[in-house]
Amino acid sequence: MVLIAVPKETAPGERRVALTPEIVGRLIKEGWAVRLETGAGAQAYYSDDAYRNAGADVVTRDQLFKGAQVVFTVQPLEEPDLAQLEPGTIVAGLMYPHRNPSRVQAMATGKISALAMELVPRITRAQSMDVLSSQATVAGYVAALIAARESSRFFPMLTTAAGTIRPAKVMVMGVGVAGLQAIATARRLGANVWAYDVRKAAAEQALSLGAKVIELPISAEGEGGYARELTEEEKKIQHEALAKEVGSMDAVITTAQIPGRKAPILITKDMVERMSPGAVIVDLAAESGGNCELTQPGQTLEVGGVRVVGPLNLPSALSVHASEMYAKNLYNLSKLLIKDGQLAPDWGDEILAGALLTHQGEITHAPTRALVGGA
Ligand code: NAI
Repeated sequence: MVLIAVPKETAPGERRVALTPEIVGRLIKEGWAVRLETGAGAQAYYSDDAYRNAGADVVTRDQLFKGAQVVFTVQPLEEPDLAQLEPGTIVAGLMYPHRNPSRVQAMATGKISALAMELVPRITRAQSMDVLSSQATVAGYVAALIAARESSRFFPMLTTAAGTIRPAKVMVMGVGVAGLQAIATARRLGANVWAYDVRKAAAEQALSLGAKVIELPISAEGEGGYARELTEEEKKIQHEALAKEVGSMDAVITTAQIPGRKAPILITKDMVERMSPGAVIVDLAAESGGNCELTQPGQTLEVGGVRVVGPLNLPSALSVHASEMYAKNLYNLSKLLIKDGQLAPDWGDEILAGALLTHQGEITHAPTRALVGGA
């Protein structure tokens, strides 16, 4: 039987686990064996007993990797763990190669077949394996809740004996997967929501969720449905148009990202100064440099009465459902790895080929090869 090992995550603040007991049960039914480290699911409230009941072995870390042909993780494995893996082991998880070049090199040297879940191509067949979407859904939802929690105002309209409260004005900048979920959540909380994105396709989706769309004469559709970086002229137009809008908002949630680059600055210091005291900015791009000039990753600042929140790893805040969705993504990927109970990945398959970071001693993902080669 092909053995999957699942470690307890060690990255600071990481509460998710790569497999849930439900998915372990399904994998075992399909002919896999599963072994987890003691306490692997504890931060997501999945007990060792629940995993045992699903048919898994639960062991200490020093026994975990022995004989494992596949390892499923959330965050990248550290080098001492990688050193324990046999050549040919498949490791699937988030890899963040730009932040971890030495681990990528260690996986190549150790002849690990590393599948970076964030590189799974965004084609229709791979939607059920798309961890970027599943985890961005969680992040967008949590971002809207943080905005409501940090706001000094109600989100919904209230008519009470003590007077009528107008609904909050919330703006979502960057309407990808996280932005759409933030819009939907802020709407459910009763806020009036405005949306802004540089991709025209995003406008229609925002409208369908009940947001009003801020339209600018900029269209920056890049490759593969992503945005491209704006020109200096476009940035100027954007800044002038958004400064006024942002100044009138009670809460702004930013999610704008450009693949492979630092996040674009959408909210400058002068824009924050124009906002009302008591307003809040939740910057979901904090991890990749921030969409607000003032954002400090992992911190909440107060600038002229405006709270600037730079949360890290929001999916971990909802560890139960974030793990459930992530595990489902891995389960769907696992079907590409096994045939008749034997490990039989087709490395030519578009999905596996797209996600493959290292294989047979090589760094197979060209941008990562350039990055690590130059490190
Ligand atoms: P992302 O996390 O890369 O970026 C978030 C949003 O920021 C995007 O909507 C982007 O247009 C926007 N943005 C970038 N620069 C900006 C700027 N200067 N001002 C305002 N907004 C800016 O994007 P995400 O959420 O990962 O998805 C992006 C695209 O991928 C979408 O078109 C989405 O429909 C597509 N997608 C396709 C899937 C599939 O076919 N399987 C699955 C999920 C997403």
